[in-house]
Amino acid sequence: MKHLLSLEDVSREEVLGIIKLAEDIKKNPKKYREAMKDKTLLMIFEKPSLRTRVSFEVGMTQMGGHGIYYDVATSPLGKKETIEDTAKVVSRYADIVMARLFSYEQTKKLAENSSIPVIDALSDYSHPCQILGDLLTIKEHKKKLEGLTLTYVGDSKNNVTYSLMYGGPLAGMNVKVGCPEGEAFTPIPTVIETAQRLAKKASTKVLVTHDPIEAVKDADVVYTDSWMSYHVPQEEKEQRIKTLMPFQVNSALMKHAKKDAVFMNCLPAMRGMEQTAEVIDGKQSIVYDQAENRLHIQKAIMLRLLGLF
Ligand code: CP
Ligand code: NVA
Repeated sequence: MKHLLSLEDVSREEVLGIIKLAEDIKKNPKKYREAMKDKTLLMIFEKPSLRTRVSFEVGMTQMGGHGIYYDVATSPLGKKETIEDTAKVVSRYADIVMARLFSYEQTKKLAENSSIPVIDALSDYSHPCQILGDLLTIKEHKKKLEGLTLTYVGDSKNNVTYSLMYGGPLAGMNVKVGCPEGEAFTPIPTVIETAQRLAKKASTKVLVTHDPIEAVKDADVVYTDSWMSYHVPQEEKEQRIKTLMPFQVNSALMKHAKKDAVFMNCLPAMRGMEQTAEVIDGKQSIVYDQAENRLHIQKAIMLRLLGLF
């Protein structure tokens, strides 16, 4: 694995290997205290972040390395500098790059022109670090991944949904997606095809439905994400709430999942929108374990990409 851009390019063995390494890092953090000695991670951000920024930077510090936060707003990128030149220059300084750019195509270009590993830290198509961390969290709570059913409900034309649709089957899980009708909220056809191809290979299932109850029925994991992703203009908020409200995860919807189902949200979350406070602050919610695991998984991802573990 040279870069981490989208989970459809990662093998099942690699996914499980990263999770296993993250488990060991979480259990024995001291063992990895010097693992990144003299190494620098460049973190390029074009969008806001709490978890991704802090967990990557803390991860580097805890492993003896250094993380540089680099804000696109104060860089020449896109104005006086091409992505290709940026890639070639930063490859001469840093050891590894993570980029949160608007466009997946740009992130791919960054990777194609870099001689060092590049991680997509969220784009319009992908959020692989999030989903690898989520798989670790699910495994901790359910003691397994294979055979589970994960349901994602809400705005499904988004990065987190796509990466779940790829990562779920790779981990041996069934994935059900529940979203409003119409192309504005439904995964694009190529993503559905790719996810179904991965599911067929893993003998699991990927289903997209416009019925929230059918989606959640018998799920082991109920997952949702913001209705107002970072790129969505504020003017769309009112209309989006109207369309997405039938897919809000509330206690009534959770009742259709398995009794011991867990609730997940990659965060940031808005109570009263994609889920109610009752659900996210309730007994089934594992959102803070999910957030914590970003730290352990980022460490594992970076060590793997650098061939250090
Ligand atoms: N879940 C996640 O990626 O959060 P941030 O946007 O805060 O990084
Ligand atoms: N879909 C969300 C995920 C945030 C971590 C967004 O793109 O803003």
